[in-house]
Amino acid sequence: MPMIEIRDVSKWYGSFQVLKDCTTNVEKGEVIVVCGPSGSGKSTLIKTVNALEPFQKGNIVVDGIVVNDPKTDLPKLRARVGMVFQHFELFPHLSVTENLTLAQIKVLNRTPDEARVRGLKYLDRVGLMEQKDKYPGQLSGGQQQRVAIARALSMDPICMLFDEPTSALDPEMINEVLDVMVLLAKEGMTMMVVTHEMGFARKVAHRVIFMDEGQIVEDATKDDFFGKPRSERAQQFLAKILHH
Ligand SMILES: Nc1ncnc2c1ncn2[C@@H]1O[C@H](COP(=O)(O)OP(=O)(O)OP(=O)(O)O)[C@@H](O)[C@H]1O
Ligand SMILES: [Mg+2]
Repeated sequence: MPMIEIRDVSKWYGSFQVLKDCTTNVEKGEVIVVCGPSGSGKSTLIKTVNALEPFQKGNIVVDGIVVNDPKTDLPKLRARVGMVFQHFELFPHLSVTENLTLAQIKVLNRTPDEARVRGLKYLDRVGLMEQKDKYPGQLSGGQQQRVAIARALSMDPICMLFDEPTSALDPEMINEVLDVMVLLAKEGMTMMVVTHEMGFARKVAHRVIFMDEGQIVEDATKDDFFGKPRSERAQQFLAKILHH
């Protein structure tokens, strides 16, 4: 059974079809990079996986849970599917430690002590133990994003979704975030990552999905995607971003 199964998913905003019969599987431990031009539906697709975006047609099953079943407990599903966005979305009025523990206490009913131990373990993992008492505003963008990753990991996710986690960062901070993601990938975390960081894709992706106009145009192994001939649209896109 795949960890994430996306089957014939279509979504419309009014008469505009933003996703067109998208189908793919993500196996346990697989790292999938999703790329494609702006507006092609990448964010919408990965947000359907934890039901942040509803869809009108098709099916998504995450670890055996049918996302689009009205009976599914969505808060519980979201607690198990970690998501990291472009903007870090930490609570500005809470310290780093409080940011790490809040959802563990509220959603998973952990005691403050349990939550703290777990949160600090992951804070250490992303290399930021010494920042535990600071507020988000006192951290760099790269550090805030690493805290956001630690916060997601503290919830013991079964898989992680990333939506352009480095695109709002200054260039010198991109690598510190990518390094954490590479580590996660190597530890066997199942990951769907929307990114244009092709170095990351080459290093750890098992497959690359290329989207255009709401469609999955390519769903190829990394070697095929970067190697053999493929759709013209993907070639043009790659040429553009690789020469940047
Ligand atoms: N709430 C909405 N109402 C109507 N159209 C929307 C809405 N949200 C997104 N769209 C449209 O859906 C399309 C896909 O958007 P999406 O954000 O998924 O693209 P993307 O591939 O993530 O783009 P980017 O690379 O710029 O982040 C776009 O054309 C966008 O304008
Ligand atoms: Mg997007």
